[in-house]
Amino acid sequence: MSSKPLLSFDEIAEESPFFLAPEERPDWPALFDNDHPLMLEIGFGNGKFLIEMAAREPGCNFIGLDFYHRGIRKIVSRIEKLQMANVRIVYGDAREKVPFIFNPGELAGVYINFPDPWPKKRHIKRRLIKPAFLKVLAEKLKGGGLLRLATDSEPYAREMLDYLEADLAFRNNCGPCAFREERDDLPMTKYENNFIKAGERIYYLDFTRE
Ligand SMILES: C[S@@+](CC[C@H](N)C(=O)[O-])C[C@H]1O[C@@H](n2cnc3c(N)ncnc32)[C@H](O)[C@@H]1O
Repeated sequence: MSSKPLLSFDEIAEESPFFLAPEERPDWPALFDNDHPLMLEIGFGNGKFLIEMAAREPGCNFIGLDFYHRGIRKIVSRIEKLQMANVRIVYGDAREKVPFIFNPGELAGVYINFPDPWPKKRHIKRRLIKPAFLKVLAEKLKGGGLLRLATDSEPYAREMLDYLEADLAFRNNCGPCAFREERDDLPMTKYENNFIKAGERIYYLDFTRE
């Protein structure tokens, strides 16, 4: 049985208006044909959260950023089927793409759900949430914009909390040094669903850009 060959990103971009392989900073209001608030999800995985958010909030525009090829292929075809005008998918590593594709103060919200925890000591340096990356997010978020994170890894959760508490650009919406216990105002992600079913604690972080 032969499986369908994966298209290259250039081919996906040619086929679908919902996928972007930008070589220069996109003009988001022109692209969406409106100036609705711009929300970013980094690491959307299978795209469940992104699609549900975009359906719930038609008055916002959503960008999904990931480098998982199969996930991208799947979500692009789902968005096409649903003709979701308020979503675009971008391929790439958030560390390279976020500085490049957004203007300062352009984002109204950033969601990062279950970033890879890299539990082995020698891999910890690969974690996405670090002070330098938080500086980039602080620059791209507008005042009052939200940064919402979730993880099942307690060490990573505590590390993210420490970095965010130390960064004066962010204010903890749960009070100093506190996690949010529940997140019933947002759709559940695939990983969240799996961890909750397995009885694991989830650490939610909820910060505002000052
Ligand atoms: C553990 S999965 C979580 C998926 C989804 N957010 C969920 O909760 O079901 C992490 C996702 O982040 C993506 N990812 C990891 N590092 C990334 C980076 N530096 N830039 C963009 N995406 C990244 C991975 O490809 C993967 O899809």
